[in-house]
Amino acid sequence: MPQFNDSELTAAVIRSFEETPDPRVRFLMEELVKSLHEFVRKTDLSFDEWGYAIDFLTRTGQKCTPSRQEFILLSDVLGVSMLVDAVNHRQREGATETTVLGPFYVGEHKTMPHGADISADLPGDRMFVQSRVSDLAGKPLAGVTVDVWHADDDGFYDSQKPSYETQGPSSRARFVTDADGRFFFRTILPCSYPIPTDGPVGEMILQTRRHPMRPAHVHFLVDAPGHEPLITHVFIEGDKYLDTDVVFGVKDDLISKIEQRSDPMMPDGQPAAGTWHLMSYDFRMKPGAGIAPKPMMAATEAA
Ligand code: BEZ
Ligand code: FE
Repeated sequence: MPQFNDSELTAAVIRSFEETPDPRVRFLMEELVKSLHEFVRKTDLSFDEWGYAIDFLTRTGQKCTPSRQEFILLSDVLGVSMLVDAVNHRQREGATETTVLGPFYVGEHKTMPHGADISADLPGDRMFVQSRVSDLAGKPLAGVTVDVWHADDDGFYDSQKPSYETQGPSSRARFVTDADGRFFFRTILPCSYPIPTDGPVGEMILQTRRHPMRPAHVHFLVDAPGHEPLITHVFIEGDKYLDTDVVFGVKDDLISKIEQRSDPMMPDGQPAAGTWHLMSYDFRMKPGAGIAPKPMMAATEAA
């Protein structure tokens, strides 16, 4: 009869997974139990603390909806998402760096023609974005879909606002690269913004005296056949939160210098109304395979 005490319990729980048919599942369960038990031993976890953790995780689950993933947010702010990203992208071989997908890849990414303004009617500093998608040898990749999305001037994504249901998507779209691997569009200069703080994750961030801010960025999901899907952001150089991103998502290679321009014409030969900014950033794709994530449902059922 095993003794389920402090010294023998861990081995007994690990033995309980002996018959697991899938060896990878068995390994993951064993390592999870080892890490959890080690945490409890190391911290001498009290019943109150255990109860708090159960309540916190329960509330995290209850905050989830078809368009809001509070558990992914928790993974993001604990650095787990970026660690999973890091161990899965150890060898970039010159390919563009990756970062977190984030919770706002939602709803419809309408295919728009090159040059379209994805933030028409929205206030903010105007920005022209130009980009080229190539393989590691620099060969342009044509016909590649590129989803883009970013926060508005007020620091919110379209899907976080009640107007989303009536007005549809804004500051998000899909482009398809031309024969030279290029795409370009107009938008507004995004600003830094807080992650949602109205749930248990935000509560934890504020209670631990962390700030909830992400540095300004534009999200890109580049999906080229024969290549690993690229999930990344381009960050705006000079943002004051680059060193302390609440989800630890910044990498040096993803920071772009945004030029302020006063030329009367934008790079596509169309007239500019006043001063504008230029973001030029090219993507290099790593050969391989993979299934790009699909956008979560639109915010129609958001709490
Ligand atoms: C975002 O960039 O949209 C994001 C990423 C992780 C957590 C919250 C927001
Ligand atoms: Fe974002």
